[in-house]
Amino acid sequence: MSQHPDSNDNVDTADDQTLSASNLNTTDMNVEAGTVASTETDPSKHIRIVNTFMKRRTHMNKNAEQALTDPEFAQYLVNNSSGDGNLDDIHDLRLLFADTPNGCDAPLTLEIGFGLGDSFIEMAAADPARNFVGVEVHEPGIGKCAYMAGTQNLTNIKIINGDAIQLLKQLPENHIDRIQLYFPDPWQKKRHYKRRFVSPERMAILTHSLKQGGWFHTATDWEHYAFWMVEVLDDLSGLSNQAGSGNFTPRPDFRSMTKFERRGLERGHGVWDLIYIKD
Ligand SMILES: C[S@@+](CC[C@H](N)C(=O)[O-])C[C@H]1O[C@@H](n2cnc3c(N)ncnc32)[C@H](O)[C@@H]1O
Repeated sequence: MSQHPDSNDNVDTADDQTLSASNLNTTDMNVEAGTVASTETDPSKHIRIVNTFMKRRTHMNKNAEQALTDPEFAQYLVNNSSGDGNLDDIHDLRLLFADTPNGCDAPLTLEIGFGLGDSFIEMAAADPARNFVGVEVHEPGIGKCAYMAGTQNLTNIKIINGDAIQLLKQLPENHIDRIQLYFPDPWQKKRHYKRRFVSPERMAILTHSLKQGGWFHTATDWEHYAFWMVEVLDDLSGLSNQAGSGNFTPRPDFRSMTKFERRGLERGHGVWDLIYIKD
């Protein structure tokens, strides 16, 4: 989180998952090109899944650490928060709210990669009748977010530790009302573009779990990624650009300012929002 992945040239070997070809879901597109063909005839070979993130060891402050260990905050942490982020048992996000005042049928937002969680918490606090699930791989951020939810006594938040793509693949069709992806890692170098969260394959997985009429909202401060996103998303069947093909959406008031947005603005970057509606 504190250092951008593109500042590390060794990233191609870091943090990707190695899977046995015999366990590979063949609809999984996030694989290193060239490796799959060789495994089709030899299931004993291993292939590498390309992740959209690189986990970093960064400082965990006391509050975050407390939230990850103190039972008082356990209600916010859906899975193993200080472990390996096992998602195996998560197949329905609505059921997570069964014992909360909103219940399972309230409108549901999923935020992917909330970072340290400040803007995610702000949006959830401003919309108490809506349920919010955040998924993140960065443990200090997960702890900080749970700490803020607990100190504000929020009842409409759940936090999942793990890879959003794996999570989305396990969810039912027509499940989520809104998915938000704010300032995803831009992966600036050409050889890292395959790690960008917005890709045709990853967006097809995401669209599957969106409800009909549901939204996908994304924003970036990286111009090349902004135009990449609009091209990928406009071409995807099943989603319509709210602002019309090729256009960006004016920054909506309901989106809270995020840490990475503020950092981009301080560096003189622009900000591009996109909202797509599932047909
Ligand atoms: C550039 S930061 C942006 C954080 C925050 N949204 C903001 O705007 O300040 C991107 C975040 O996405 C997370 N991330 C990237 N890929 C992810 C994935 N597949 N599943 C969950 N989190 C992911 C990273 O750990 C990181 O915290």
